[in-house]
Amino acid sequence: MRKQEVIRIKHNMASSMRSLFSDHGRYVECFRRFLNNSTEHQCMLEFMDKQLPGIIARIGDTKSEIKILSIGGGAGEIDLQILSKVKAQYPGVHINNEVVEPSAEQITKYKELVAKTSNLENIKFAWHKETSSEYQNRVMEKKDIHKWDFIHMIQMLYYVKDIPATLKFFHSLLATNAKILIIVVSGTSGWDKLWKKYGSCLPQNDLCEYVTSSDLTQMLDSLGIKYECYDLLSNMDITDCFIDGNENGELLWDFLTETCNFTMTAPPDLKAEIMKDLQEPEFSVRIEGKVLFNNNLSFIVIEA
Ligand SMILES: C[S@@+](CC[C@H](N)C(=O)[O-])C[C@H]1O[C@@H](n2cnc3c(N)ncnc32)[C@H](O)[C@@H]1O
Repeated sequence: MRKQEVIRIKHNMASSMRSLFSDHGRYVECFRRFLNNSTEHQCMLEFMDKQLPGIIARIGDTKSEIKILSIGGGAGEIDLQILSKVKAQYPGVHINNEVVEPSAEQITKYKELVAKTSNLENIKFAWHKETSSEYQNRVMEKKDIHKWDFIHMIQMLYYVKDIPATLKFFHSLLATNAKILIIVVSGTSGWDKLWKKYGSCLPQNDLCEYVTSSDLTQMLDSLGIKYECYDLLSNMDITDCFIDGNENGELLWDFLTETCNFTMTAPPDLKAEIMKDLQEPEFSVRIEGKVLFNNNLSFIVIEA
């Protein structure tokens, strides 16, 4: 019997663990804590500054309008960075930015951010409150298929059921010179190890797939879709996770394990094992007294 199966059998008994996705409010709070305690967005911004201008250099050539589709745009912070780079590349060209996002709460935050941001003239925004597969079904049923110049899927493919079908569909929507940008956790990250070792002991749910860049590049290879993959270093400060009763630490535990109230509801032996493991070098490094979990990100660029 494999070690993972042994752990699952051992821990499945008498566990009252519940998926974090069953409590949307807590999930949003945990995600905010993750952003506050990680270099996730800084890492993305570095990519947007250094790599994105080269990637989008030709997407709008000979076009009177640039069409951008954001899948799972969240509260829009990263989307607006992308728009500023496209604007800088194509000054004065009209941009049509459409967002597919199932969370009403996130859409409200996105709209608030747009309302208080300057320099967005020439950009038209539209939000669709739906998942990527609902969007796919809607446009296919209505035969209302638009081509797009830039499509991005940032930290959202975990929530898609049939990823190869989704990749194939959005690839078919690319206009001439268009690109897709996907961001997911890297196959070299601590997440990969955490999910492989403990995924089966944590609450199973229909909403989230444990997918990393290694899985995605394999899928793209099978589909025969060409891509380039860039890896950037990122970390998540999980020091508070090892301070008993620390509120920030508890929310970060929930985010790491996708479990509601992990420290209260996990079987003690599972909790002890994960706590010990996450301090090991394959998951984290210790710098100046801080425990930094490996949150390396992969940026996958697909061409038309
Ligand atoms: C981790 S957040 C990332 C948000 C943003 N892209 C960022 O990087 O800050 C994932 C987002 O995907 C959205 N989402 C979840 N399931 C989705 C689906 N099936 N299709 C499209 N978006 C989805 C969530 O509501 C959430 O806003």
